[in-house]
Amino acid sequence: MSEWLQCIAHDHRYDINEIRYTCDCGALLSVERDNIIDRDSFDDRSTSRAPIDRSGVWRFREGVLNVDKAITHPEGGTRLYERNGMLFKHEGENPTGSFKDRGMTVAVTQAVRLGASAVACASTGNTSSSLAAYAAQAGLRAIVFVPAGKISSGKLAQTLAYGATCLAIRGDFDAAMRLVREACERFKIYLVNSINPFRIEGQKTIIWELLQDLEWNAPDWIVVPAGNLGNTSAFGKALREAHTRGWIERMPRLASIQACGANPFYRSFTENFTTRHTVTAETVATAIRIGDPVSHDKAVAAIRDTNGIVEEVTDDELMAAKRTIDGMGIGCEPASATTLAGVEKLRAKGVMKSGQRIVCVLTGHILKDPEANYRAENVMEIDATIDAVARALG
Ligand code: F0G
Repeated sequence: MSEWLQCIAHDHRYDINEIRYTCDCGALLSVERDNIIDRDSFDDRSTSRAPIDRSGVWRFREGVLNVDKAITHPEGGTRLYERNGMLFKHEGENPTGSFKDRGMTVAVTQAVRLGASAVACASTGNTSSSLAAYAAQAGLRAIVFVPAGKISSGKLAQTLAYGATCLAIRGDFDAAMRLVREACERFKIYLVNSINPFRIEGQKTIIWELLQDLEWNAPDWIVVPAGNLGNTSAFGKALREAHTRGWIERMPRLASIQACGANPFYRSFTENFTTRHTVTAETVATAIRIGDPVSHDKAVAAIRDTNGIVEEVTDDELMAAKRTIDGMGIGCEPASATTLAGVEKLRAKGVMKSGQRIVCVLTGHILKDPEANYRAENVMEIDATIDAVARALG
């Protein structure tokens, strides 16, 4: 079986082990392969005890990266919750608390195959945490570029605890992203942002695992938060491949949801993608505070191929949706709640109809953003007496 890097704009291929993230023409690259995989072998592995089969990423290895040995925690195997007639796949249940682990296990495995000694990324906090954990496991140096003062305390602490070198950039995520690309080129560091096509291969398994959990019956809608657009791109590729290989009979529709203050992809969508917009981003959902998403072109294909839709929600709407998700006892970080807020909006518009099967992908754990969780109105400081307890409980 062969795998190669493919230019998404032209018929141009590169060796799978060449260190590059874009084609000479400037377009993004994707990992492609010529094998036809049978979904039954994935189902058979569900009961296997072999460590590589227990990973919800490497269980699908022939469609992700064909290796015998991987840097795996393991990851994936996240739960699907049914609440209020909807499904929630909680990617915050990955080892470092976000979906990033699915792509990172593949990118860091590839880094080791390439003989890299250091890996880097720009991040709003989840990619950096994941990178730091997988680099620690692989014995690689981890360098992360984060927007100074703009990532949650939980994510920063986690990234530092795993031992990464943290460069806090005086600028936003988009500035950090530009800088890390230049730094990786100059200092020969392996870049593992989602511009790295191996990240996308891993993130496809969110969809494949979901479909497997649904016994390969595609839902009507899959709803995902949209920031740098790695996930939207990966979901499109996963669905395309599942459909072409006959694992599913029909294509679900993708709904990518942005925060209003960080909505370049939404703006492009409203103009039928004739213009690629960029914005200076501002939103309470710091994970998706991104104004110039690197995977734009792949994400456009994902929306087109799935008859998908892009929506935007306000900070108030996404925080209200977060309280609903938290109130179901599931919980997530603010960016993840754009999904439910988006569903509410698309239902009100009549785009999503009653009776349709909707899956929201929750991308990050409730503890990732402690500042967003504190509800002062629920705390009462009292004296250590039973009378004080009686008074407090009214
Ligand atoms: N949800 C969470 C919790 C995220 O951390 C991110 C991105 C997204 C959604 C958006 O996903 O970029 O694939 O469209 N976080 C990146 C990071 C930027 O650095 O952790 P996307």
